Amino acid sequence: MWKHMASSLFFCGRRSVRRGTGRDSSRRHLPFWRGEMAQKTVLVTGCSSGIGLAIAAKLAHDEERRFKVYATMRNLDKQGLLVEAAGKTLGRTLEIKQLDVCSEESIKNCVDSIPDRRIDVLVSNAGVGLIGPIECQTIEEMKTVMDTNFFGLVRLLKEILPDMKKRKSGHVVIISSVMGIQGILFNDVYAASKFAVEGFCESLAIQALKFKLQISLIEPGPVVTEFEQKVFEDGMKMDLSAADKETADMFTDVYLKNYKQIFQSLGQSAEEVAEHTVKIILLDNPPFRHQTNTLYTPMTTLKYADPNGDLPIDTFYKMVFQHDKVFNASLNFIKLLRWRSKKSFDLGKPKQ
Ligand SMILES: NC(=O)c1ccc[n+]([C@@H]2O[C@H](COP(=O)([O-])OP(=O)(O)OC[C@H]3O[C@@H](n4cnc5c(N)ncnc54)[C@H](OP(=O)(O)O)[C@@H]3O)[C@@H](O)[C@H]2O)c1
Repeated sequence: MWKHMASSLFFCGRRSVRRGTGRDSSRRHLPFWRGEMAQKTVLVTGCSSGIGLAIAAKLAHDEERRFKVYATMRNLDKQGLLVEAAGKTLGRTLEIKQLDVCSEESIKNCVDSIPDRRIDVLVSNAGVGLIGPIECQTIEEMKTVMDTNFFGLVRLLKEILPDMKKRKSGHVVIISSVMGIQGILFNDVYAASKFAVEGFCESLAIQALKFKLQISLIEPGPVVTEFEQKVFEDGMKMDLSAADKETADMFTDVYLKNYKQIFQSLGQSAEEVAEHTVKIILLDNPPFRHQTNTLYTPMTTLKYADPNGDLPIDTFYKMVFQHDKVFNASLNFIKLLRWRSKKSFDLGKPKQ
């Protein structure tokens, strides 16, 4: 009997209740006109650079034209890179629109300008970073991070979710982070903003099931984009006078010193993250969480391995303060392995 109950519970689980077959929904074998008819509208936020730009461009260039992309950004003066990446898809499968996730009015204007306000897939990507000792950050700076990364998503959903609920269809894809699962030294407020996103989505996902809506959190590890560069430069310029010497040294001599190396060894490109995201969008039965970087997964697994929460904290502490030489050597080793695999992939011409 128990066995029977357990298996019914298992099969009543989220994935089987939610969505049918689990097949990949790619319409590879459908005639062109069927593909056109089934074209999904996708709204992507934060497309002036990085991951948002790469996702918008990849969707717009889809050979089967399965998507109509509304690529949005807060400042239209920054559309140059996107226009270049969009190429001939501009005005066809890709349109550029203004949207600031910190302004309800801007979100409403953008959504109202879309035919029937129909958004099949929302990709909530816009985000900002912040690193450093909290003593040296103002509450205003911290509020900007929460306002963009967390309330930005909330504002979007307040405008878009009711329509999705009415239609009983829609997929919300959020570019979260591994820092939505696990905190990292000197990323306190940024990690808090991504934890907020993850808690919010975990709660909402239960209600969403009732409306046949799908929510997916994409969790990249380090990604080499302008974000990483901006955050590093801000860290280098940071006035550390409000912190004690030990904390200030820890930030500059440990954190900033390793920052570049971590991105060089473990970092993915925005295009790689876009590829993962598009695969998730194409699934009939997308997962709630998806990590894009398998090199990072062992770290997040520690979180689930110890309900007390000490294991990941102790491991990070030892890695950073006690075994820093081994940690650095491992990063170098990973960098070398990745360089070699790229070299064989590119037939002997490694990319710089
Ligand atoms: N890079 C990483 O290592 C990494 C890792 C994990 C997750 N992520 C997440 O990935 C997402 C994209 O980051 P990215 O790496 O692609 O960085 P990015 O190149 O700096 O792109 C961030 C985008 O968000 C936009 N943005 C910022 N505030 C906005 C607002 N109020 N309204 C609308 N757009 C706004 C930026 O526009 P402007 O050009 O106007 O500033 C930019 O287009 C973020 O949510 C980030 O947290 C990044």
